[in-house]
Amino acid sequence: MQSKRNLIAKTLGLSATFLMLHNTVPALAGEVEKAVEYRQGVMNVFNWNMKAMGDMMKGKTEFDQARFAAHAQELSSASTFKLMNGFPEDSESDESDALAEIWMDFEDFESKYQDFGSAAQALAKAAQGGDKGSMGAALKETGKSCKACHKKYKN
Ligand code: HEC
Repeated sequence: MQSKRNLIAKTLGLSATFLMLHNTVPALAGEVEKAVEYRQGVMNVFNWNMKAMGDMMKGKTEFDQARFAAHAQELSSASTFKLMNGFPEDSESDESDALAEIWMDFEDFESKYQDFGSAAQALAKAAQGGDKGSMGAALKETGKSCKACHKKYKN
């Protein structure tokens, strides 16, 4: 990391200290694409589990408490991924639906991810409890936390 910082600093004619203080390294073109793939991959993990639980709640597939709980657990685990690493500064691209607003208020973006994490953990807890009404309510809250972020930060 250190040597990469130095290399980038040299290329850009900036001091390594400046970059260190800035605490972010501008993403290079190939790295942007990798970051986009990573974050979209994580989103697809979220979506896979949310859809399976949603379908059960809607009666599209048979409700199975153990299967629901397994999906809730997987979502909760995935919510601990260091997703923010997939959003290096200004990593916009044609392949991405991420909005520039993310890097204008990164703290707020991060706090939306934390809100989602709390919701996902509450969902996993409700699923262990096994009360269908509580599970449905917690699933709805989790869905809201996805939308709260998408509304502001996704195309
Ligand atoms: C902290 C903000 C945030 C949260 C929370 C969040 N997302 Fe996203 N999501 C994004 C952003 C930003 C993108 C666009 C990423 C890109 O294209 O680079 C995205 C993209 C997606 C995509 C499209 C992925 C693709 O292949 O292009 C899906 C599906 C998705 N999110 C589902 C979810 C679900 C389901 C949840 C909740 C369980 C969720 N997201 C929570 C910010 C968030």
